Amino acid sequence: MKALVYKGAKQVAVEEVPDAKVAEPNDAVILLTTSNICGSDLHMYEGRTSVEVGKVLGHENMGIVEEVGPAVQVTKVGDRVSVPFNIACGTCRNCTTGWTSFCTRMNPTEGMDGAAYGYANMGPFDGGQAQYLRVPHADFNLLGLPSGTEHENDFTMLSDIFPTGWHGVVLSGMEPGDRIAVFGGGPVGLMAAHSAMLMGASQVFVVDKEPDRLTLASSIGATGVDLTLGDPVEQILEHTGGLGVDRGVEAVGFQAHDSSGEEHPELTLDNLVNVVRTTGGIGVVGVYVPQDPGLSDPSSADRVAWQYGTFFTKGQSMGTGQAPVKRYNRQLRDLIITGRATPSFIVSHEVGLDEAPDAYDKFDKRVEGYTKVLLKPNA
Ligand SMILES: NC(=O)c1ccc[n+]([C@@H]2O[C@H](COP(=O)([O-])OP(=O)(O)OC[C@H]3O[C@@H](n4cnc5c(N)ncnc54)[C@H](O)[C@@H]3O)[C@@H](O)[C@H]2O)c1
Ligand SMILES: [Zn+2]
Ligand SMILES: [Zn+2]
Repeated sequence: MKALVYKGAKQVAVEEVPDAKVAEPNDAVILLTTSNICGSDLHMYEGRTSVEVGKVLGHENMGIVEEVGPAVQVTKVGDRVSVPFNIACGTCRNCTTGWTSFCTRMNPTEGMDGAAYGYANMGPFDGGQAQYLRVPHADFNLLGLPSGTEHENDFTMLSDIFPTGWHGVVLSGMEPGDRIAVFGGGPVGLMAAHSAMLMGASQVFVVDKEPDRLTLASSIGATGVDLTLGDPVEQILEHTGGLGVDRGVEAVGFQAHDSSGEEHPELTLDNLVNVVRTTGGIGVVGVYVPQDPGLSDPSSADRVAWQYGTFFTKGQSMGTGQAPVKRYNRQLRDLIITGRATPSFIVSHEVGLDEAPDAYDKFDKRVEGYTKVLLKPNA
């Protein structure tokens, strides 16, 4: 089968690889109808993780069940399904309490709980930027979708970024009527803004520097804050009569940068601590890594120096981590079906697998309005 393979920093290629197949009795194999490129893939693409050369990338997958193993009981060949990016066993302590993103069984990497498709440090599993994908514990992990092709570009956000954006807002402790600031207007930040609207925020700010992403934020009724025009904290304080916001979401991660492009991993955390009110909450879904291989100074590669003292003094709370997709995807699917949620508003490009290397390059440079790229591997 054809698949997109990681070859080294800023190098990916479409190659022939062995077919995905049923390897364990609980497995299913999915024919991919849509597989998205994610901002998380860019951390690997830019050589900022320890992902191994030869890995098939792609953790945002949906498609049609092609084959099931002998122990699969509920999932049937021909079912249309969304595949959560978390690979979960369904029976460990974290899975049974709703934390499938921290499954203690599926990831053999020392010191890491939680597995995913095609991702650094998250287990030996290949991704779905390919024609076919192997899904372990299929009955537990897969989410059924109405058959046909309707809502394809909305449903494809259920594997990761819509639940992840929603989770960021949940982690912030937001309640109806709250004001919230989302740092990062990429796909995850825009999904957090969409989620906050659905959950009844009174005002949503989205901070970024890319004009097309700020325009998308305004298109759903959020207030775009352009960080190239000055300190985003000052801008939000001005908008709110000095009050700041009740809640904040971090949707950028460790590669946060200033308007000149220089990276400061603590920047958005500091901004959030300063713009969120005393006793307010912050949800961090932007990715931070235990060791940043992109930093030459080993004494700082394993830490981020942020304003913890201000965070403490303000009595704020913070929740972090990979999103447990299964906790939200069923409800978000139904919001899509009834037309209350339309996460496809962020889709900028739909391309075939062969065009994926070019799409990675352009998405990485954030050129030509490349906000969210959907691959159609079997179109
Ligand atoms: N926790 C999870 O489960 C989970 C799931 C998916 C993605 N993620 C992570 O979420 C983050 C965002 O993903 P994405 O797909 O939207 O990525 P993206 O790279 O497309 O978007 C990030 C955006 O942040 C902006 N940005 C950079 N510095 C900033 C700053 N100082 N202030 C405000 N905005 C700034 C960039 O201009 C960009 O538009 C990534 O770190 C990704 O790895 C986490
Ligand atoms: Zn993703
Ligand atoms: Zn588990």
